[in-house]
Amino acid sequence: MNLREFFYRLFGIILTPLAVFGPFSSIRVWANRMRGVKIAKGVWIGYLAFIDQPPEIAESMVEIHEGVGIGFRNNIFAHDSSPVWQGGKCIFKKVVIERNVYLGANVTILPGVRIGESAVVGAGAVVTKDVEPFTIVVGIPAKPIGKVK
Ligand SMILES: CC(C)(COP(=O)(O)OP(=O)(O)OC[C@H]1O[C@@H](n2cnc3c(N)ncnc32)[C@H](O)[C@@H]1OP(=O)(O)O)[C@@H](O)C(=O)NCCC(=O)NCCS
Repeated sequence: MNLREFFYRLFGIILTPLAVFGPFSSIRVWANRMRGVKIAKGVWIGYLAFIDQPPEIAESMVEIHEGVGIGFRNNIFAHDSSPVWQGGKCIFKKVVIERNVYLGANVTILPGVRIGESAVVGAGAVVTKDVEPFTIVVGIPAKPIGKVK
């Protein structure tokens, strides 16, 4: 573990609970930025939303563009790990959420996914693949049901 990772893990003990349980969106946004998540202006983050930022990676692994709304209890993951699968290696893949996307409550986004501008993800969806801009997706795995007008 290098010095940078040591400090990120240390500060993560305070910052991660603030990022998830902070009483206001502004506090959750601030704490996530301090953890290394790249968040543009005008972003709203719901209570209990978890945004992955592995401390061993210096680059922002989740990028959230302007005007995005992230619903209550979202999970946005940028890594996969298992002691056996993939030879026990932790795999990191960046997630990008483009401007004005709306993520309903309880959405899970898997590593490597890009959600296109102004797309809408319905409550409870698990997003396994990229979502086209201005598209509404729902379900597990998330599938398009329409377009945003
Ligand atoms: C995705 C969403 C925006 C779609 O709204 P809409 O365009 O008005 O869609 P409709 O209600 O007309 O539903 C269209 C179809 O998709 C289905 N559907 C809608 N939302 C769904 C969801 N979240 N999961 C699974 N299916 C869903 C409907 O059952 C309907 O199916 P049918 O045609 O077989 O009857 C909305 O349903 C949603 O999930 N909003 C999120 C609300 C939320 O999480 N709020 C709290 C945020 S913190």
